[in-house]
Amino acid sequence: MSTGTGIRIEQLRVGYGAQPVIDGLSLEIERGAFFTLLGPSGCGKTTLLRCIAGFVTASGGHIRFGERDVTALPPHQRDIGMVFQDYALFPDKTVFDNVAYGLRARRQDAATITRKVGEALERVGLGALASRQPAALSGGQRQRVALARALVIQPQVLLMDEPLSNLDAKLRLQVRETIAELQAEAGITTVFVTHDQDEALALSHRIGVMHQGRLAQVGTPAQIYREPASGYVADFVGAANLLPVDLPMAVAGGAIARVAVAGRSALARAATALPAGPAMLMARPEDIGLAPDREATADTLPGRIQRRQYLGDKTSYRVQLENGLALQVDRHGANHDAHQAGDAVALRLDPATTRVLPA
Ligand SMILES: Nc1ncnc2c1ncn2[C@@H]1O[C@H](COP(=O)(O)OP(=O)(O)OP(=O)(O)O)[C@@H](O)[C@H]1O
Ligand SMILES: [Mg+2]
Repeated sequence: MSTGTGIRIEQLRVGYGAQPVIDGLSLEIERGAFFTLLGPSGCGKTTLLRCIAGFVTASGGHIRFGERDVTALPPHQRDIGMVFQDYALFPDKTVFDNVAYGLRARRQDAATITRKVGEALERVGLGALASRQPAALSGGQRQRVALARALVIQPQVLLMDEPLSNLDAKLRLQVRETIAELQAEAGITTVFVTHDQDEALALSHRIGVMHQGRLAQVGTPAQIYREPASGYVADFVGAANLLPVDLPMAVAGGAIARVAVAGRSALARAATALPAGPAMLMARPEDIGLAPDREATADTLPGRIQRRQYLGDKTSYRVQLENGLALQVDRHGANHDAHQAGDAVALRLDPATTRVLPA
């Protein structure tokens, strides 16, 4: 079931004073989707989220919730639920009263409030703690209260700004599960901000990777990871080997191209149409084949293992190529730790997973 509305952002501009932070950003988020804004500190994630919420005013462009243009509306008229990094609970109110706040503001009757708050607290697993004060709760419990408070009003749009970042690793995983379950159950259109790639990949239907106030790429987790549009996205999401290469001739987007790399040649798929000349090759550590050098062929790159890290389920190798550049190669499965530092090896790039990106 999906409730709520889709969100359409058109040519949005936001700045603090003369300094533009969001500069002509357009984005469509489907109704019921879990959409994540992912990007490094300072790229404008919070600014964009606060603008969707109405706490920050746009200097240009439009935000629509379904057919409704909310660009000029104050937050309380937008029908949003919001969860902040620092919980932002009322410290002098009980858990019950914190969650009841939005319902009272909407002048719902006492019986309805008691029922809805009770249901919301049950859903986040805090039914027994309704009379506690926030100071007597753990971080994970506080964030669950904040979640219940945001959802109890059944908003059109749920906005969350790094809701897990103040929690320790174990709680982060637990509350992450809760968020995923509640979102799936309520089907509410959700915009989630994080700079944690694991969180983004695990939770999202789609991810928007931000770079300096713009969207570097929007796609499903698998698209972002498997088909990054640029070196920036490849490097930010997951580990990526990025090597300077030369394209002998122009190539169409999606086509397999032969590239010159480290004095040899290899095949890789072009992310977009690219002109002849310098480009960048992207290969994930787990996608590179590694064999003893007696198995070298015309299609493999010779290298030498500089060091290895045994990590239990896999071994991570640092392999130096003939031109001095080094690659990270991860092996899983049986005998993943078979290679030793100093071994001469043959690397095989798989054209199905290796990509050519703009330089
Ligand atoms: N109130 C403000 N006044 C002036 N500049 C601001 C204000 N808030 C944010 N900025 C600037 O706008 C830019 C984007 O900030 P924003 O908080 O949106 O980044 P972010 O992606 O959420 O970062 P983080 O991951 O650290 O939370 C930054 O350069 C920041 O310094
Ligand atoms: Mg932020």
